[in-house]
Amino acid sequence: MDSMSNDVISDKFGRSEDEHFATKAIHEGQDPAQWTHRAVVPPICPATTFQQFAPAKDAGFVYGRSGNPTRNCLETCLAALEGGKYALSFASGLATTLSITHLLSSGDHVICFDDVYGGTNRYFRTCASKMGVEVSFVDATDPVNVKKAFRNNTKIVWMETPTNPTMKLVDIRAVSEIVREHPGALMVVDNTFMSSYFQRPLSLGADIVMHSLTKYMNGHSDVVMGAIMTNRSDIWERLAYLQNSLGCIPSPFDCFMVNRGLKTLHVRMEKHMQNGLAVARFLEAHPHVDKVLHPGLPSHPQHELAVRQCTGFSGMVSFYIKGGLQEAEEFISNLKLFTLAESLGCVESLVEIPSVMTHASLPKEHRELLGISDNLIRLSVGLESTNDLLQDIEQALKKAEELNKK
Ligand SMILES: Cc1ncc(COP(=O)(O)O)c(C=O)c1O
Repeated sequence: MDSMSNDVISDKFGRSEDEHFATKAIHEGQDPAQWTHRAVVPPICPATTFQQFAPAKDAGFVYGRSGNPTRNCLETCLAALEGGKYALSFASGLATTLSITHLLSSGDHVICFDDVYGGTNRYFRTCASKMGVEVSFVDATDPVNVKKAFRNNTKIVWMETPTNPTMKLVDIRAVSEIVREHPGALMVVDNTFMSSYFQRPLSLGADIVMHSLTKYMNGHSDVVMGAIMTNRSDIWERLAYLQNSLGCIPSPFDCFMVNRGLKTLHVRMEKHMQNGLAVARFLEAHPHVDKVLHPGLPSHPQHELAVRQCTGFSGMVSFYIKGGLQEAEEFISNLKLFTLAESLGCVESLVEIPSVMTHASLPKEHRELLGISDNLIRLSVGLESTNDLLQDIEQALKKAEELNKK
């Protein structure tokens, strides 16, 4: 490890706060004794319905939407990894958001971080609002703004940390203490960017953790799925009811795939962190880069909070290239290892321009307020050889620099 990484990574980093994480990822919910032939790997159970011994006397499963053995096995593992008692999986991250929002009634109020994933913002603005749910977007980097936004009808405080793509952090514990002052209000934390390995919002006071499992948790760009984890049996019961009643469920095959992905989560996250930090430092030292956004860099305005709240960092790095959209596009078109694509958190490195891709659905004024300008580039640093990634970035930056000089 070079001297710079020693500045950034204390002994605490690169390890989950749960010393049994790897064991749980491989064994929780996976006991071969639960399957007829003692399969070491959970079988995919595609049955949509299950034979009953007698009317209303079932063997634990009735109908594929209300419960499925492959899904159960995944949910047991997901709960254990997040340090929660319960987990439920849904057809996508956004289907999870939708199902959580169905805990509300018309006239209820949501406080949402103004820098959440563009699709979450769009859902609250254009869909939940039609159901009569009121939403206030606030800059939650300062917990005081959350406190000020509370109303008598506030029922959910929706946080995401670090944010996508500007890497702002929310102090989960501080916000959860504010939420506790309002009985009946729930705090939800979208933990997609960090995975259950590097951040545990339930232990910091959140009531519900949600994930787009599409990202790090599955990690292989081959499943779209979401999940919630919680320690509260009342929340779990209400959401299990909604999982069945709304029907936003994942397929048994997809459950099998995510269960498989989870078994290597800890190994993947360590390498994502190593590659992400190497890329962030390289970019920060490069003359054609204006600014790098990565919570693991001491230059990040909330680095101290990141060190306190997380046990490591994922492979997400955003940076402002010198110039504008043209330079950003020139950089991207010259990359050979980073694929131009939306999504993140998977084994292959991806690149995108949020202002015209993932965050194009946000109103321009809102994007500008958040710092999502046309020269902001988001990298999802994958698991390729570190030096290959650095060399690829270096040669592409050179091309963008040449264009800038013309
Ligand atoms: C932080 C975050 N939350 C939620 C979602 C939505 O998840 P999905 O695409 O699985 O519906 C995304 C998708 O990019 C995301 O990045």
